[in-house]
Amino acid sequence: MTDPGERLRSSLAADQSSSSAGGLADFDSPIAMEALRATRVLHAADQEPFPAPSRIRVVTVANQKGGVGKTTSTVNLGVALALYGLRTLVIDLDPQGNASTALGVDHTVGTPSVYDALVGDSTLTEVVHPTTASPNLHCVPATIDLAGAEIELVSVVAREYRLRRAIEGYIAALPEDQRPHYVLIDCPPSLGLLTLNALVAGDEVLIPIQCEYYALEGLGQLLNNIDLVRQHLNPGIAVSTILLTMYDGRTKLADQVADEVRNHFGDIVLDAVIPRNVRVSEAPGYGQSVLTYDPGSRGSTSYVEAARELARRGVDLPPIDRTVTPGAATAFAVAEQAAPGTQDGQQA
Ligand SMILES: Nc1ncnc2c1ncn2[C@@H]1O[C@H](COP(=O)(O)OP(=O)(O)OP(=O)(O)O)[C@@H](O)[C@H]1O
Ligand SMILES: [Mg+2]
Repeated sequence: MTDPGERLRSSLAADQSSSSAGGLADFDSPIAMEALRATRVLHAADQEPFPAPSRIRVVTVANQKGGVGKTTSTVNLGVALALYGLRTLVIDLDPQGNASTALGVDHTVGTPSVYDALVGDSTLTEVVHPTTASPNLHCVPATIDLAGAEIELVSVVAREYRLRRAIEGYIAALPEDQRPHYVLIDCPPSLGLLTLNALVAGDEVLIPIQCEYYALEGLGQLLNNIDLVRQHLNPGIAVSTILLTMYDGRTKLADQVADEVRNHFGDIVLDAVIPRNVRVSEAPGYGQSVLTYDPGSRGSTSYVEAARELARRGVDLPPIDRTVTPGAATAFAVAEQAAPGTQDGQQA
């Protein structure tokens, strides 16, 4: 048996001779293409920063169905927006803390987290953590404490508005040139008080839909809830974006689901579709997004495309005032008093 050094040298020699024989054709090899794509993602902001939105966009990523790609989409869209030059805050609102894990942010018990801002007296500024993915990306982690928040919040005044107020306070405390362009909120797979807080806090909803048979089940209930929130608690909320996830091009079913979603929802469905890609599912295990874990993978480039579309759609939005004027009654405070039937936090 030859020694490993020898094997390496002979393999390098073989590569060299084949590349000099292959010439330019080598740049078309799958590995060269992947390297090119990876370079583009890693040096994103130098090349083509995404356009900043016309106002701060607070995007609630919701679908009460479990495992459809809410967290994966929140994290990877967040990292893509940040790498392409936009200041982004990811708020993990799921006691599972998956978004915190995927961004490599500590979320063991005792870590200052979204729980302290929702149930306790902390400001969001006190519980925001930096991430290693990008200096533009910050994260509010969720610890397991949040599991009790649904119950603890029941007795809290204006409980549906806790997150909205926290975000407003956070934005108001920052100088204008440091405010986030995007706030992405990762919801748990339920329609309880946490998701309700996220729907009241957001100005738009992004729904990830998995290209699978049961994908559309339960969607009606989510849309009804969003309607109720719009009527009673947050007049500005609307579904702005649908993202097709875990698309498997080998199955007819994936195409059927994608067609059905596009026929039903029209333009709000992003053209970019996220393929089922093993690198996407491996990345969180390394505390990373797929963009940093394997930037040239199809999962990474498709999230970049989805984020680019999201950003392009945000350049012409009508303004919303998100700063809090102390003592002033906001439209939301009025809506809060007039909100019948939301007392159990489950109905809306
Ligand atoms: N494009 C993809 N390709 C392969 N695996 C994926 C992809 N997107 C998500 N996954 C995997 O599918 C699982 C569910 O994804 P994710 O956690 O993002 O869903 P979720 O909607 O946030 O789930 P939950 O409802 O539990 O919060 C995870 O293991 C994730 O790694
Ligand atoms: Mg999740």
